[in-house]
Amino acid sequence: MSDQTAIESVLTEERVFPPPPEFAANAHIKSFEEYEKLYAEAADDPAGFWAKQAEALHWFKKWDTVLKWKEPFAEWFVGGKLNISYNCLDRHLTTSRKNKAAIIWEGETGEIKTITYLQLHQEVSRFANVLKSLGVKTGDRVALYMPLVPALAVAMLACARIGATHTVIFGGFSADAIRDRVNDCQCKVIVTADGGYRRGSEIRLKDVVDEAVEHCPDVTDVVVYQRTGSQIKMRPGRDHWWHELTKTVDADCPAEELDSEHPLYILYTSGTTGKPKGILHTTGGYLTQTVYTSKVIFDLKDEDIYWCTADIGWVTGHSYVVYGPLANGATVFMYEGAPNHPAPDRFWDIIERHKITIFYTAPTAIRAFIKWGEQHPLKHDLTSLRLLGTVGEPINPEAWMWYHQIIGKGNCPIVDTWWQTETGSAMISPLPGATPTVPGTATRPLPGIVVDVVTKSGKPVGPGEGGYLVIKHPWPSMLRTLWGDDERYKQAYWSEIPGMYFAGDGARRDKHGYFWIMGRVDDVINVSGHRLGTAEIESALVSHEAVAEAAVVGRPDELKGQAIAAFVTLEGGRTGNDELKDALRTHVAHEIGALAKPDDIRFTDALPKTRSGKIMRRLLRELASGGHVAGDVTTLEDLSVLEKLREDEE
Ligand code: WT7
Repeated sequence: MSDQTAIESVLTEERVFPPPPEFAANAHIKSFEEYEKLYAEAADDPAGFWAKQAEALHWFKKWDTVLKWKEPFAEWFVGGKLNISYNCLDRHLTTSRKNKAAIIWEGETGEIKTITYLQLHQEVSRFANVLKSLGVKTGDRVALYMPLVPALAVAMLACARIGATHTVIFGGFSADAIRDRVNDCQCKVIVTADGGYRRGSEIRLKDVVDEAVEHCPDVTDVVVYQRTGSQIKMRPGRDHWWHELTKTVDADCPAEELDSEHPLYILYTSGTTGKPKGILHTTGGYLTQTVYTSKVIFDLKDEDIYWCTADIGWVTGHSYVVYGPLANGATVFMYEGAPNHPAPDRFWDIIERHKITIFYTAPTAIRAFIKWGEQHPLKHDLTSLRLLGTVGEPINPEAWMWYHQIIGKGNCPIVDTWWQTETGSAMISPLPGATPTVPGTATRPLPGIVVDVVTKSGKPVGPGEGGYLVIKHPWPSMLRTLWGDDERYKQAYWSEIPGMYFAGDGARRDKHGYFWIMGRVDDVINVSGHRLGTAEIESALVSHEAVAEAAVVGRPDELKGQAIAAFVTLEGGRTGNDELKDALRTHVAHEIGALAKPDDIRFTDALPKTRSGKIMRRLLRELASGGHVAGDVTTLEDLSVLEKLREDEE
């Protein structure tokens, strides 16, 4: 390798799955040639390509300039005026979609609610008037801390309608996390609920907000949506019931004509150090790319029932539960609760009953399904499904194959979509009627997206070589800055590799131009001078029949620089012993090579994960290097997992 900062890639995968011909014939993009033609056109004239996609939206006033770019600050569709709520709602009311289901929601407790576009428009308009009645003005920030109920989408769209900037805070976060976020962007109003349901118990959200608000000087009002009906404290003058306020306002609220660059939302992601980063997304460019990608990646049609299982508290929920699908006039299915409540077949039961056609979930969920056993999906009729998707992490080929065979019955294309909170919409993904898929790769960049794999100094690496995944041309739904901190924005994304956007992933491009994401570069392990991505070793471990999930980290080693430590959870019914450890080492050596053989293997019941399902390798690294966890653990989903691992250590 020419550059010592590159990352070695060791994984090879030969299975290829072309789009089923019938799917391709009916798809929005029907062949690989069509994709390549689009890609080439967009590469020639990115502004022209994106302007064409922006034509799909309703604009009160057309833009004057497609892109103003002064690295690293972008403005898209400058001079244009539009409203996202108008695009998601009003626009459909003059069409046959008026009485179509916009949202079908199922609570964990079993109730089902269907809201048509007309009804959603009314609810959103009313709630927008509620916000106005509380003094919320265009440009003000509003925090939303809610369970996964349609009212959360209503609140987002109501903010968008009047030009208030929302910040959704995932309903699993603590009072401290709320306080930090609300204060960072000076929210005036918090919208919450009495509670929500998760795995059979009630999560009491309002109590958490009460604790947080004590330390939020800018908050004047708290609006409470009634979901559970539990007893909660209401502070007179500050706290109001959603259902009472909505009775006091009328249902007519014209959508504000907003600048294309008007701030739509702030979404906080955890940085590696210090306080969370407030990713800022704006209006015209964001909607253009989410609408385009929703349409071509999910091949959305009017007859579809589309289910993205992400919580709305993550960017996936913003772009692919709410804004992208609704602006396309789709029927969006939402489920409030856990996948294993009351039983591990809840998702498959939902797919059968609601006849879901498109299903988009995360690799971490798929690995849990595999662990729970295929008897659960096999009990259900899943033939309504026509398309599957994944996002959030590299999907190991083993999990991909299971998803393809057990859920998709071999008939459904899988779209493995690579993107980030920062990118706003998908960037690298197969187009389901066009791109032959290969398990484990997000395949090619979308038309209009220019990505590359480079060395630390920005030189492209050769086919098959690992390096840094960068984006070389501004894209419409890119983050505009970090809220209130342009300097940190430059530092975090534009300083590592000169002239390019870099947000932390390692990748390689194979000889077909397909991109393989190798995980976060912070997670790279350096064994005897070879830089190995964790994702590939994990994937090799998981391809052993006894292994359900694996996390691999480096620990200091005098001889090799770093040694490989693997934390492994096993399939139901399997027990870990020395014999299995040996078998796993041999297996990895066979799949990748002796270089990648784990030095330590530790069996565990569960891996520490963030609330969005990502394995917290940093904690495992600390454990593997001496058993002492010093860093921040506030984003850990289940603290007991860490305690258990520590006990095993002793
Ligand atoms: C990071 C972004 C994008 C919405 C959910 C996560 C990893 C995401 C893939 C994929 C491999 C992926 C990357 C990325 N990632 N999708 N298809 N293949 N890795 O958003 O929390 O901002 O995380 O997730 O490491 O940088 P996020």
